[in-house]
Parts: sequence; C-alpha cells; structure tokens
Amino acid sequence: MGLKSLAVVILAATGVGQSPPPALPEGPGKELVEAVCTACHTLERVVAKRATKAEWQDKVLEMLQEDPDITQQERDQIVDYLAKAFPPKVAGK
Ligand code: HEC
Repeated sequence: MGLKSLAVVILAATGVGQSPPPALPEGPGKELVEAVCTACHTLERVVAKRATKAEWQDKVLEMLQEDPDITQQERDQIVDYLAKAFPPKVAGK
C-alpha cells in the first residue's frame, strides 16, 4: 500500500470531515433520546426545538406512534428529559 492510500484509510477511520453530532445535556434519558430519536433524523432537529412538557409529550407521541417497541416507561423518560433539557425559551408564567 502506498503512502497516499494509507493516508486515505487513516482519514476515513478517524471520521475527518464529518461534523460532530450536537451534544445533548447530561441527564437521565439522554442515551434513550440519542438511541431512539436518531432513527429517522439527526439530533439537530431535536435540539433546535423548545417546548413545554405537554408539547413534548404530543411530539414524542407523534414521532413514536409507528414504533410500538418503545415502552410507555421509556416514552415518559424521554418526555421528562426533553422537557427539562429543552424548555420554552420564554418562561410561560
Ligand atoms: C419514525 C421516524 C421518526 C422518529 C423515530 C423520530 N422522528 Fe422526529 N421527525 C420525523 C419526521 C419525518 C420529521 C419531519 C416532519 C416534519 O417536519 O413535520 C421529524 C421532525 C422532528 C422535529 C421537528 C419538527 C417539529 O415538529 O418540531 C422534532 C423536534 C422531532 N422530530 C423530534 C423527535 C424526537 C424528540 C424524537 C424521539 C422521541 C423523534 N423526533 C423521533 C420522524 C421521526
């Protein structure tokens, strides 16, 4: 293998050129959101949104209606996490 192709292999292996996924804040449910909510789109969709708990509940229900494998307990954890991590920008009080 020549030097040039070796460089290509190294670049490919280290993922140079790929932008990193948006970081989610730490908290219970984070791994669940990362695993479940990336099935159809990237996390950019998720982190761009701000909503109340009720709105997140509706959204998660809508997103996961065709995925019966996610248990109610997992859905609750996802909603709790999202409501805490991505609340509305203007407090509705
Ligand atoms: C079954 C596929 C699927 C899964 C799983 C999924 N989504 Fe989506 N999501 C979509 C599609 C398709 C769109 C684009 C539809 C649109 O723009 O209204 C979208 C758009 C979005 C949007 C932006 C549009 C809006 O209404 O604000 C948000 C936020 C979002 N998803 C959050 C989530 C979260 C949170 C999860 C995990 C609980 C999730 N999605 C899992 C399919 C999915």
